[in-house]
This record gives sequence, structure tokens and C-alpha cells, in this order.
Amino acid sequence: MLKAEGISKIYPSGESMVTALEPFSHTFSPGQVTAIVGPSGSGKSTLLNLLAGFDKPTAGQVIHQTPQQTTNLTQLLEGDKARYRLENFGFVFQNYNLMSILSAQENVEFPLTLLGIPVKERLERSRAMLASVGLERRTGHFPSQLSGGEQQRVAICRALVTNANLILADEPTGNLDSKTGAGILELLLGPAREGRTVILITHDAEVAARADVRLYLRDGRLERVEQREGATV
Ligand SMILES: Nc1ncnc2c1ncn2[C@@H]1O[C@H](COP(=O)(O)OP(=O)(O)O)[C@@H](O)[C@H]1O
Ligand SMILES: [Mg+2]
Repeated sequence: MLKAEGISKIYPSGESMVTALEPFSHTFSPGQVTAIVGPSGSGKSTLLNLLAGFDKPTAGQVIHQTPQQTTNLTQLLEGDKARYRLENFGFVFQNYNLMSILSAQENVEFPLTLLGIPVKERLERSRAMLASVGLERRTGHFPSQLSGGEQQRVAICRALVTNANLILADEPTGNLDSKTGAGILELLLGPAREGRTVILITHDAEVAARADVRLYLRDGRLERVEQREGATV
């Protein structure tokens, strides 16, 4: 599980300070999809970036606990953090962040290369991953040759291919029409059902409605937590 313990973020802004996130505490459980919901500027991306360790909290800490070990992400050194993230996190960025000079298959393969996985296995895993989202005939295409929905599926494949147990996504359905968006959500629900921890930012009420837990942010504050019936927090 991923535990946020009183994490906050204050940005200096000229002479004054902007509180992007007030002290936030929550435990994200394995096997659940948690949606972070809130208006623009409410601190959603700030929270996700803190959870991922892309950004350092002004106060508080993020703890990752598995049956094998407990790791305080906030105390890891930068180099160790990058490695830890590679092995434990999968990210889906709002604007896909695919590498334009790499094919779909090469983009998905990339984290496996960083992990030092042998080339044959990398190829097999990245191809199988793309096939699982219906992109088996797009493996050689470059991002510019793919639709927004296809690019987002490639980005999700890249996040899932390492079998990371924490999947974080910033508006994965943001720029997509609702039908494509629903399909994208399905791709993230599957890994959660397998026991991974999925955290996604969304402003799409339909997407949020299908999450197990919903966290509502407003003005950098956690306003309320909602739980789908039957879901355990
Ligand atoms: N790097 C930064 N420097 C200063 N202020 C920032 C920075 N990043 C975000 N903020 C401010 O923090 C608040 C929350 O931003 P953000 O987390 O991006 O909101 P959301 O993702 O919900 O739209 C906003 O008021 C934003 O202007
Ligand atoms: Mg944002």
C-alpha cells in the first residue's frame, strides 16, 4: 500500500507563498482504483507528483509498504528514488509523453531496457502488452501516426509493462471522447483487480463513478472521501 502521512506543498510565489496542498493523509490500498477529483488548481497534480516522488513535500512523508518491505520514499536519495520509481511505479501522463522518435513498441519497451531486461524478453513483453490493448498492428507506428486514444493506450502499456504495483495516472482520459475514455479506464481497472494500486486524476464524473474510492480536493484540501459500496479502504 501507499501511505501519505501529512504531506503538504507550499510554493514560494514572489513575496508570498501558495499552498498547493494542505497536509494530506490517506492510505491507497492494493486492488483498488482511487480517483482524485477536483476543480482545476485544486492540487490534484501536486498530490500525484508528491506521491510519485517527482516532487518533495514541504512536510510529511510518503511510505510504500509491501509484504516484503517498508520504504520511506521521501527519505530516499534522488538516484535511489529514480531506481525505486522505475521498479515500483508506472505512470501515465496527461499529454502521453511518448518519445516521438521511438515506435509504439520501442516506447513500451523503454522501461524494460532501463531495467536491464534481455532484448528477446523485452520484445515479447512489449508486443504482448500492445496486443492486449488491440494495438498489435500499430507496433511499428510512431506517435505522430497514432490517434490520441491510441497514443494513450501506448502510454498505458508503457506504464503497465514492468508489472509495477503502483500505477499513477494524471487525467488519463482527459483529452479523449467519453467512449475512448471508458475503454482507457477498463485498461486500468484490470490491473487493480489483479491486486495493483491504481491512482488516477480525473474530471470525468463517469470515470470517477467507477472508481472504488473517490478523493475530492478543493483549494488544496481533501474535502471528502467517498467509497463505492463493497470497496474496503
Ligand atoms: N511549480 C509551481 N509553482 C507555484 N505554484 C504552483 C506550482 N505548481 C502548482 N502550483 C499552484 O498550486 C495549485 C495547485 O496546482 P495543481 O496541483 O496543478 O492543480 P490541479 O492539478 O488540480 O489543476 C495551483 O494554485 C497552482 O497554481
Ligand atoms: Mg493537474
